Amino acid sequence: MATVLSVSGSPSASSRTNRLLRHLDRRLAAQGHEVIPLDVRTIPAQALLGADFRHPAIVEATELFARADGVVVGTPVYKASYSGVLKALLDLLPQYALAGKTVLPLATGGSTAHVLAIDYALRPVLSSMGAAHIVQGWFTLDKDISVHEDGSLSVAPAATEALAQVVDQFSTALGRRPVLAAAG
Ligand SMILES: Cc1cc2nc3c(=O)[nH]c(=O)nc-3n(C[C@H](O)[C@H](O)[C@H](O)COP(=O)(O)O)c2cc1C
Repeated sequence: MATVLSVSGSPSASSRTNRLLRHLDRRLAAQGHEVIPLDVRTIPAQALLGADFRHPAIVEATELFARADGVVVGTPVYKASYSGVLKALLDLLPQYALAGKTVLPLATGGSTAHVLAIDYALRPVLSSMGAAHIVQGWFTLDKDISVHEDGSLSVAPAATEALAQVVDQFSTALGRRPVLAAAG
């Protein structure tokens, strides 16, 4: 069993990205992982935008990253890239906050024109933070994510299948992470 930090990088109160991540969290939890959700929008803006490294919410987020074996990083595509609030958080973490970790990058967006944003924008940032293994990510079109009146979520069949596959590959990669030999 691994500890997974599931980071939603949307500033929106009715975020599809957020709902999608929480939906996928359940699949990871069912596979035996401890899943910790982190919604960047709940971190005070003053701490994020004022680069307040010592703010309790930033300290707590830093500790959550340090504790995790794996990190799911989900973002809406805004202006052909990841969201500004996600970058604001990543900028406040230690340079190698992802060292030794397995990372699953996910994005939601309105246009297939930006399906590669994960690879040209997000992946280099995750790599610069020392991620040990960035597994295949997935871009989901916003029109394929439906939120119903009762708050439940449904995802179009083709996207459901693709997401299940990348989540399961992430889960398998977590199971293969190297176990450090005990000291002494
Ligand atoms: C300010 C803004 C900029 C956006 N820019 C893009 C874009 O460049 N490319 C794209 O495919 N979708 C773009 N979209 C659409 C969102 O990526 C898409 O609706 C996403 O699922 C929203 O996720 P959220 O509900 O978690 O914020 C944009 C949406 C907003 C609000």
